Amino acid sequence: MNPEKIRDDFPILKRKIYGKPLVYLDNAATSQKPFSVIQAVQNYYENSNANIHRGVHYLAEEATTAYEEVRKKTASFIHAKDHHSILFTRNCTEAINLVSFSWGRKFLNRGDEILLTEMEHHSNLIPWHLLKNEKGIELKFIPFDETGVLDLSKLSELLSKKTKLVSLTHISNTLGTINPVKEIIRLAHEKGAVVLIDGAQSVPHIPVDVQDLNCDFLAFSSHKMLGPTGVGVLYGKQELLLAMDPFMGGGEMIREVWLDHSTYSNPPWKYEAGTPNIADTIGFGAALDYLNHIGMDKIQKHEEELTRFALQKFSLEKNITVYGPQNPEVHSGILSFNLEGIHPHDVGTILDQEGIAVRAGHHCTQPLMRKLGVSGTARASFYLYNTKEEVELLLQAIQKVFQVFHHAAAR
Ligand code: ALA
Repeated sequence: MNPEKIRDDFPILKRKIYGKPLVYLDNAATSQKPFSVIQAVQNYYENSNANIHRGVHYLAEEATTAYEEVRKKTASFIHAKDHHSILFTRNCTEAINLVSFSWGRKFLNRGDEILLTEMEHHSNLIPWHLLKNEKGIELKFIPFDETGVLDLSKLSELLSKKTKLVSLTHISNTLGTINPVKEIIRLAHEKGAVVLIDGAQSVPHIPVDVQDLNCDFLAFSSHKMLGPTGVGVLYGKQELLLAMDPFMGGGEMIREVWLDHSTYSNPPWKYEAGTPNIADTIGFGAALDYLNHIGMDKIQKHEEELTRFALQKFSLEKNITVYGPQNPEVHSGILSFNLEGIHPHDVGTILDQEGIAVRAGHHCTQPLMRKLGVSGTARASFYLYNTKEEVELLLQAIQKVFQVFHHAAAR
């Protein structure tokens, strides 16, 4: 895999920011898009635009086929048995909310428990807060230790027959921790719990096989994996999707409608009311083609190398705290850090002046920040087009941040 060659496929990476080459290290927030994705969206509007599943005319059929092809590609990307297990949503957040609304409302009762972790994104907390208020269920949390790794020794007391759902992130968007989800899924199933994996930060970066993991639901987003915004995915096991109630009501999701009642289509269409985001879903298909062409194994290896390199370089610096595991085998390409005595927003602003894009703040994980005892962190996150030179540029720019704040240089 040659990241230099890959970079040529991403027009935005040629940009200069304040006269300096863009160093884009905010991939955990959203990824950049290759020409092929941009062209797929443009080509759809130029040549194939029509509403899907409704028309009998040529363009409607062409658009329907293109849209449904992406469902098949998505299924094969995560090794799902059946493309009817793939539901398109607006984003990963909506996919999690769909489970909470359609499965949780129907199947959870007062006294039931949901097991989450202390490192969840707000998207995997708030849907359950809402359900807790409505249904009187309990929420429990797997803690993480001082290295940012889940403390599984607590699992045997946290998991019980009352646990109806375990919902956790595969990779922490803040700490970069790669969680041992396969093992957690196995233990949860022993207690009869259903498991939802938040794959927002894993599916774009490592090979994910839903049959091997045996998860019941997997949620992720197109825009973090080279595709357009506005498309999310929920994978669900067929028996669950058949048993759940619809998420939204409207056109497309029905079998028959009378004035006072209606019956519903089979999954996945039962969960896709209204005209979906056709163009961007087709763009997402081009993103899957691109990732498949490079190979997820190679992307994973490249990011592992970058992370190993970055963790090693950062560990040599003084006055920098890096959060999350030091072991690169369980640390994905997400590096959260703080410079002693300097607010992460100031770090982000000065790095920006050097052309370096990172995220600064609480990263939608306020409970995690509270546990770390900080208000926020600066976060660099890598993808397939990032290079070791960019990690070096980040470190040089960090020295500038220290200089600006009259700190001794970190070396
Ligand atoms: N969930 C995204 C992030 O971590 C937006 O930045």
